[in-house]
Amino acid sequence: MMDKKQIYSEVAEQITAVTEGEENFIARMATVSCLLSEAFDDFFWTGFYIVDGKELVVGPYQGSLGCLRIAYGRGVCGTAAATGQTQIVDNVHDFPGHIACDSRSVSEIVVPVFNQDNDLIAVLDVDSESKATFDETDRRYLEQIVGDIFARCTISPN
Ligand code: SME
Repeated sequence: MMDKKQIYSEVAEQITAVTEGEENFIARMATVSCLLSEAFDDFFWTGFYIVDGKELVVGPYQGSLGCLRIAYGRGVCGTAAATGQTQIVDNVHDFPGHIACDSRSVSEIVVPVFNQDNDLIAVLDVDSESKATFDETDRRYLEQIVGDIFARCTISPN
């Protein structure tokens, strides 16, 4: 069985190959969420929340129904957006202000996404039904994937 690092390396190559030449950031986000969610069995919800003023609005995702809008500073996604730092949460039920879009989500990682001017444009949210699914390996590869895919985008936050 492939370990997590091997899966990430393969999926990162696949994402780069599929998105080559495609500058539309919605198309890129849709591709990233699809390929990550297909690659990992324990990725229960995989997708993006896009910056819209002082809120995040749901973008392309794979999974059950997500909330449509999240204020900066609220829940795990809002905290990642407000701080600009990746958040890893082993059990969301212990996270103050957690937004329960789906009670089956237990652990999650949320990675901020920046454009080439280093403005926050979105966050990548991955949720799992098990406790403590995400660790430093997930942080490293997911930060690298969104860095490679969106850092050259010229899009601005809404
Ligand atoms: N878990 C997120 C909310 C979004 S979803 O679960 C799809 C949070 O607390 O930020």
